[in-house]
Amino acid sequence: VGQNIIALQRVDSTNNFLRKELSKSKPIPEGTVIMAEDQFAGRGQHNNTWTSEPGKNLTFSFVLYPVFLPASQQFLLNIAVSIAINDALTQIIGSACKIKWPNDVFYQDSKIGGVLIENTVAGNHLKSSIVGIGINVNQVEFADSIQNITSLKNITGNSFNIRDLMTGILEAIDHRYSELKEARNENHYGLYTGNLYRFNELHKFVIKGAVQNGRITGIDETGHLVLDIDGNQYHFGLKEIRYIL
Ligand code: BTN
Repeated sequence: VGQNIIALQRVDSTNNFLRKELSKSKPIPEGTVIMAEDQFAGRGQHNNTWTSEPGKNLTFSFVLYPVFLPASQQFLLNIAVSIAINDALTQIIGSACKIKWPNDVFYQDSKIGGVLIENTVAGNHLKSSIVGIGINVNQVEFADSIQNITSLKNITGNSFNIRDLMTGILEAIDHRYSELKEARNENHYGLYTGNLYRFNELHKFVIKGAVQNGRITGIDETGHLVLDIDGNQYHFGLKEIRYIL
């Protein structure tokens, strides 16, 4: 990953850019990275928009062809990418970051970055995957409408070189993706849950519209969040549960 890097000044979304490339007759090489200084239609999960001050942050995407992965196990890709970013940012900050399910990276109770993975499937296996990553790096002010958000600069007081940061993150991802590909990923699940934000803490969640107390006990093989509520285990998908920060 990252042998081939295309740096753009301005694009709608680096994920969209790669999606258009994938639909062309000549497939783009695996691991190709698109980075942009400015995205005018950056996208996040839940159909959210991803906004980022131009030139201040890291916004990039790359393409993978994880044909070895059964579609039913596609969450393993989210796990590999999340633990890699979490590790890389923890090293930079010098204090533990956490993965907020499914794949945000948090420092204390604030989000530093997020991941948007868009897969295509052929038969029972994955065909292509666009992995889009946004990390707040040197931006220090955020819109009042966005709560619980921070950046590496806000946390550490330092500015960072965006390219170097991306190189470090890509190396970490490359390492985890190789493990996944070579089926050497036995510890990925443990690293994921072991670094999960609010793991095993009794906390309030909004579940299907109602506030409930629960404890995150893990994730299942489909990537659903497993919560212990009054001694019973329940599995929730992305649209069914929300954290109260
Ligand atoms: C989220 O937190 O919901 C995911 C955010 C993902 C943002 C990145 S920025 C680069 C890539 N291009 C996009 O349009 N989105 C991802």
